[in-house]
This record gives sequence, structure tokens and C-alpha cells, in this order.
Amino acid sequence: MTKRKGIILAGGTGSRLFPITMGVSKQLLPIYDKPMIYYPISTLMLTGIREIAIITTPHDQEQFVRTLGDGSQWGLSLTYITQPKPDGLAQAYLLARDFLDGAASVMVLGDNIFFGQGLPQLLQEADQNLHGGTVFAYHVADPERYGVVGFDGDDKVVEIVEKPEVPPSRYAVTGLYFLDGTAPDRAAGIKPSARGELEITSLLQSYLGEEALKVKRMGRGYAWLDTGTHESLLDASNFVRTLEKRQGLQTGSLEEIAFESGWIDREMLAERARIFSKNAYGEYLAGLLAADDSWQQSGG
Ligand code: DAU
Repeated sequence: MTKRKGIILAGGTGSRLFPITMGVSKQLLPIYDKPMIYYPISTLMLTGIREIAIITTPHDQEQFVRTLGDGSQWGLSLTYITQPKPDGLAQAYLLARDFLDGAASVMVLGDNIFFGQGLPQLLQEADQNLHGGTVFAYHVADPERYGVVGFDGDDKVVEIVEKPEVPPSRYAVTGLYFLDGTAPDRAAGIKPSARGELEITSLLQSYLGEEALKVKRMGRGYAWLDTGTHESLLDASNFVRTLEKRQGLQTGSLEEIAFESGWIDREMLAERARIFSKNAYGEYLAGLLAADDSWQQSGG
């Protein structure tokens, strides 16, 4: 069985954040001390995924390559794919068909940020389900802005609808999709919606129709942050700042996850700490090395 591969969809026009995103891709905007895309990359890494395709607009690709390189600094293999026009989320599976080469996948939207105690376990459980798909439902105050889950009287999921005027529940589907190897073929069979997009909800409906979709609730102990408006973008930055200041721990540190996972060695971590030596992030990475030193010296 081929190992599950990761996709990050990071295209789109970013028009809701104009004028900021007129010159820079939304997914490269800062969330406090890191580019936004670091956080979805960390989500894939916490799942255990190391082979990742990053889908961007053609004109933004260069900036992503400059920011992330080939991923080897984190023990990853990054592949870059372009999406000429934002024709819908489900199109990602058509664009990534060769990259996936029949493998199951986990796609995360480049502007979706997840935190929470137990997140790695939640992700790794979903990774284990190789038949059909798994998505996550999250209680929100404004469901009409999202894909929304409809339940029947027995709490069984019966539908997933995109941005409904009258939402069937307050449970939004997050931008994190674990799907099996049939996703590209299914995506090829979808018709564009009234707004002209290949909707992710249509793809999910195709799984749901065959009772092959698990919808897991992501409970209130998790944070799923919105970055869709100027206000929520600032809120997300403040959230990360508050956590990092209070805990003295980083969120979304790709070097830390890679080192803890044994995907990079001490030399690589030291090299990364040197690159960032002028700021608190570099100090933090140097601190990880020092902690590893004393762990080894104490017979770790
Ligand atoms: O965030 C979760 C929601 O994401 C889901 O609940 C919805 O079902 C799903 O449609 C999506 O809703 P959005 O309103 O957030 O979709 P948006 O068009 O803003 O696209 C989400 C991200 O994906 C955005 O950063 C841009 C990027 N994108 C979008 C499209 C349509 C692409 O890279 N390519 C595309 O073709």
C-alpha cells in the first residue's frame, strides 16, 4: 500500500483581503511570527506525512519556492503544482493526480490553522482509515460561510452543503480532507456548481452517497482559526502570540516537529538556528538543541 501523501491548496485570488493580497499570496501572510502556510504544513507533519504537493497560482509559485525550498530542511519532499485559475477546491485532486499516483491523500487548505491537545492522535487516527474518507465537523457561530453538515434525527450525517442560506446545523466542515485513492477519479466526474467551481462538498457528497465518509467532530478543545477577514487574520496572530508568550513554546515550528520526529538531525537543527539567530525563533531552536544536549548527557 502506497503511503498517504499530502496536498496543500494555496492558490486563489485572496480578494477578500485586498489590498494586502494584491502583491503577496494570502497563504504567505504572517500569522504572528511565521508565514501562514507553516501552520497547515505542521498539520500534515503531525499526521506523519512527508511527501507534500503545494498548489499555488502560477505567479505566486516563485515566492513559495523561495520561502519553503524543497522541504529537505524539515526532512520533507515538496512538489510544486500550479493552478491557473481558482476553479474550485476539488480541482486540486485533478491537478495532483500524477503526484498522488493512486495514493490516498490528506488535503489541507493553506489558510486553515488548527491547534489543540491531542491533535496528532486525531490526525493519525484519520490517517489509519484507508477506505473512503474522513473529514472534521466544527461548531461555529457563522455556519453559512462554510460547507455545512446536515444530520438526521439519529445524528447520522445525511448531507454536506456549501454556504447554505439556511444552514442545516452549526457544524462546518473544516478545510482538512482525508480521502482515499479514488478522489481524482471522483473529482473528474463532478460538474461545476452554479458559481462555476468544482466544489469540495460535491466530492464529499460522492463519498457520503456510498456511506464511505466519516465525519468526526472536532470538539471545543481544539482551535480552528479563521483567516478570511482582516479582523480574523489579526485575531489568529494574537492567538498564536498569546500561546507562545504564555507557554514559552512554539506553535507551528516545522524544525521542532521534524527534529522530534527524527526527520532531521542535530546538524540541520543547528543550521536552522543559525539562520534565525537574530530573533526569538532562532533562540528557541538553539534552546531545543541545548535541551537535547542535557538530555543526552543525563543518559537520555
Ligand atoms: O475553510 C473551510 C471551508 O473552505 C469549507 O468549509 C468549505 O466547504 C470550502 O468550500 C472552503 O470555503 P471557503 O469559502 O474558505 O473557500 P475559498 O474559496 O475561500 O477557498 C479556500 C482557500 O483555498 C483559499 O485560501 C483559496 C484557496 N483556493 C480556493 C479555490 C476556490 C484555491 O487555492 N483554489 C481554488 O480554486
